[in-house]
Amino acid sequence: MYNLSTPFKEKIELSLKKKRSNIIIALDPVIANRNILLEKSLEIVHDVAPYVCAVKLNHHLVLPLGLYHGVQKIIDLAHDLNLPTIMDCKINDIGDTNEVIARHYFEAGFDAVIANSFVGWEDGLKPIFDSARKLNRGVILLVYMSHKGADEGYGQKVINQETGEAVMQYTLFASKALKWGADGAVVGATYPDKVREVKSILGDKVPIYSPGVGAQGGSIEQAVKAGARYLIIGRAIFQSEDVAGSAGAFRDSASKFLLP
Ligand code: XMP
Repeated sequence: MYNLSTPFKEKIELSLKKKRSNIIIALDPVIANRNILLEKSLEIVHDVAPYVCAVKLNHHLVLPLGLYHGVQKIIDLAHDLNLPTIMDCKINDIGDTNEVIARHYFEAGFDAVIANSFVGWEDGLKPIFDSARKLNRGVILLVYMSHKGADEGYGQKVINQETGEAVMQYTLFASKALKWGADGAVVGATYPDKVREVKSILGDKVPIYSPGVGAQGGSIEQAVKAGARYLIIGRAIFQSEDVAGSAGAFRDSASKFLLP
């Protein structure tokens, strides 16, 4: 029986240690037929389970399959295989709506949600953290995204409202992730220097989740050496001819650089 009472941050770290893998599968297949999409998604989870520490979903599956129908079947399978699940919904609305979004994802069984730091705390992120804390679920915050346009938002120079100093938006978000007690911070593996800079702010208190390895060109070695704790990998695994073999190969490459 899957244990939902252990706090998310501990649970995923235990999973990493047990599996000796810091790879999180990003389950984003694109298939027009919804029955086949569900079958294929379940098959991928089953195949990669020995080699990954968690499963991440996003709108690729929630929109076509529905949360309480298809997606819940995927969450249940992941949990049967002892894998925590993360909903990458990048929550980004006012507090009242954010609370409903988080509540439904947690009710469906997700162990953690990803939210956007740009929303701010009061009447923004606070209700998500409140729901998560009641249920021992996690909140992971965006600090610097992996795509090319990330610098237009996360890479701006801004004025810190508390100190009046000019700082980079992402370093300010990293400090806030620490202050707010986030369970993780997302920094793209495509920007290893930024992973290193954020790691120097977060230390071991808030683990870094890095997407961008494989299809987006990020290097496992550089991201892990710079301080990424978990690597989120999608297409390079599930589009491979040998899905299990590819997940195993990523696990083995990352584990060479991962600290115990
Ligand atoms: P690929 O196929 O590129 O998939 O390995 C990457 C997965 O990660 C998501 N992604 C992000 N999620 N912050 C996030 O929270 C990011 O900066 C980011 N970049 C990519 C993407 O949606 C896909 O599921």
